[in-house]
Amino acid sequence: ENEVTALTLAMLHTGATLDFSDLPGVKISKHSTGGVGDKTSLIVAPIAAAAGAVVPKITGRGLGHTGGTLDKLEAIPGFRTTLSVEEFRSVLREHGLCFIGQTEQIAPADKKMYALRDATGSVESLPLIAASIMSKKLAEGFDGLVLDVKVGSGAFMKKHMDARKLAQLMVGIGRRMGKRVQAVLTDMDQPLGYAIGNALEVMEASQTLQNSGPADLTQLSIELASRMISLANPAEGMEAAREQANAALNSGAAFAKFQQVIAAQGGNPDVLSQFELLPNASSAREIFSPRAGFITRINAEDIGQAAAMLGAGRDTMEKHIDPAVGVILEHKGGERVGAGTRLCTLYVTDETHVEEAAQLVEDAFHISGAPAETRELVLEVVQ
Ligand code: URA
Repeated sequence: ENEVTALTLAMLHTGATLDFSDLPGVKISKHSTGGVGDKTSLIVAPIAAAAGAVVPKITGRGLGHTGGTLDKLEAIPGFRTTLSVEEFRSVLREHGLCFIGQTEQIAPADKKMYALRDATGSVESLPLIAASIMSKKLAEGFDGLVLDVKVGSGAFMKKHMDARKLAQLMVGIGRRMGKRVQAVLTDMDQPLGYAIGNALEVMEASQTLQNSGPADLTQLSIELASRMISLANPAEGMEAAREQANAALNSGAAFAKFQQVIAAQGGNPDVLSQFELLPNASSAREIFSPRAGFITRINAEDIGQAAAMLGAGRDTMEKHIDPAVGVILEHKGGERVGAGTRLCTLYVTDETHVEEAAQLVEDAFHISGAPAETRELVLEVVQ
């Protein structure tokens, strides 16, 4: 832990750190290690901000089968994520929430070391992952941080034990830095919610902020937002924080907060209620169940890869993505389907890889005669 903390600090200090200590309020951030259909930042950040936390959110792009919050926000016409630090500060001061993209000034050593890790086979090294993530997060100038460490086929960490070790390392680094940090280990064996793809995920986030989103996405969003709120007011405890998170969601305050921040960052907030204002795919391809039975598994990695194949993601950072395309699931793990039931729909603008993506998606659904146990969404809390 001493070595990892020292490495993290050295990496952090190769670049700039933001300092919002002059702004009133407790600064709380959130980070996910990445998954498929994970649009929780678009929901939890407005909930926590509506409940009084100040949320400076530096977001990243998706890579491979996983999505990134920056790509999702850029699906909103006009939304600007390349703000100056002064603009960032001003939106944060006014609304308690602002989203910006990673800049070259933040932990520049990480970029160089990451390239070396690829070449030296150390991409999977837990201490190097922990230092990489925490050096970038600590540059945000937060007081408290909630980490969503994903576990499962669609996650960076496939095994619960590895995810726990990573969480312990990151929480330990935070503690040594005098920050309040909690990690929640959550399931990423199947996609989160029903929508995968950038504009599609903005729509689902909007529905969730209007309290008509998928059950799993709503449950996880409330869990993470409550932890952010409780880190902002540790004296109040988790029960009070949960009540505040639910109140911010149910009263419409969190939805209004997201609308205000979209407008403040140059985007059109009407997209949250008029989905036709978001980029739209030009065709759709439906996938049907080949047999009757129970869905025992939906392989998140394959669904993420299929969405990336359609253009929703990228395999190298230089590639452009298509905000309109992706996959909408119709059913989730544990549900019973008949032969010919529609399992999901692919939204497409370029037909080049549709056949391949359709096959991948069909194979991602495991359908069996007997139901299988479904995994809990929240697996463990490390603090
Ligand atoms: N995310 C990061 O930022 N760094 C890693 O090393 C792995 C995931």
